[in-house]
Amino acid sequence: MREEFCMSEELIPSLDKSTSEVAWNLYRKAIRKGTWDPAAIDLSQDKADFESLDGDLKGYLIHFCTGFLDAEENVALKFCPWIMLGSTTEEQAFLSTQLLEEFKHTEFFMRYFSEVLGRERIRGVKNTVQQKLDERAKQMLDALEAGPEEREAALVEGLTHYQGIIEGVQAMTGYDVFQAVYGNRGLFPGLAEGFARIKEDEGRHVGFGLRMLKLLARNPKHAKRIRAIYDEYLPFILIRYDQPVIVDGREIPTPPEVNGRERLTKLFDRRLKDIFGSLVNN
Ligand SMILES: [Fe+2]
Ligand SMILES: [Fe+2]
Repeated sequence: MREEFCMSEELIPSLDKSTSEVAWNLYRKAIRKGTWDPAAIDLSQDKADFESLDGDLKGYLIHFCTGFLDAEENVALKFCPWIMLGSTTEEQAFLSTQLLEEFKHTEFFMRYFSEVLGRERIRGVKNTVQQKLDERAKQMLDALEAGPEEREAALVEGLTHYQGIIEGVQAMTGYDVFQAVYGNRGLFPGLAEGFARIKEDEGRHVGFGLRMLKLLARNPKHAKRIRAIYDEYLPFILIRYDQPVIVDGREIPTPPEVNGRERLTKLFDRRLKDIFGSLVNN
């Protein structure tokens, strides 16, 4: 949790191996290593930390954890079309591990609300990129009935939207924000551990997604699709940290360490470089 989580090139599986081989290796890795239990993380110190925190930092944590719970739950509920569009048994096997893991992340934040924050999440935190998953899932389901080209195009768009942007930019920004605001103060060891476990899972999800996008971007039509979604979604991504933070009718100041816009923009550029390499400005 100490350093920023920018996926480095070596975490993206190589293009030399076949996609089936990469997917199967990640599937096996998830079976062997993705065995942490969200119910087993000790949250007792977190409860004490939360109670001793000042009102603004408490409010910001409620807003921040709402963002994660909303996002994890929403992706878990909508993820089936990504599995169904996998073109081989190996791809579908790996993607099915991701479905379970998104529910585990959801469970962890549900537990955090009930055992540490002692309340329900707040309503109405804006996350446009998440809201657009409804439409995306529908397009992907429609593509299941279409030919192989349309299926591949729908998968490219789905991977860009979800693995490339939601997981690869938004979620990873969130891990760094937690560390900067709370982790560096030595607070919330249970949340820090939850994030450490979630990040291991996300390493597989984002690694697979970016490796697919890097490969598929060799086709100029797909490259155009990927770039168009990144460009269209940049303003929506920024809304996540630009909106006023309102908790129980009170506006909470954003802690100066958050730097949401700067962190998001940096990771956004990083992802384009991961996918397109030196072709990023072409
Ligand atoms: Fe997740
Ligand atoms: Fe994920």
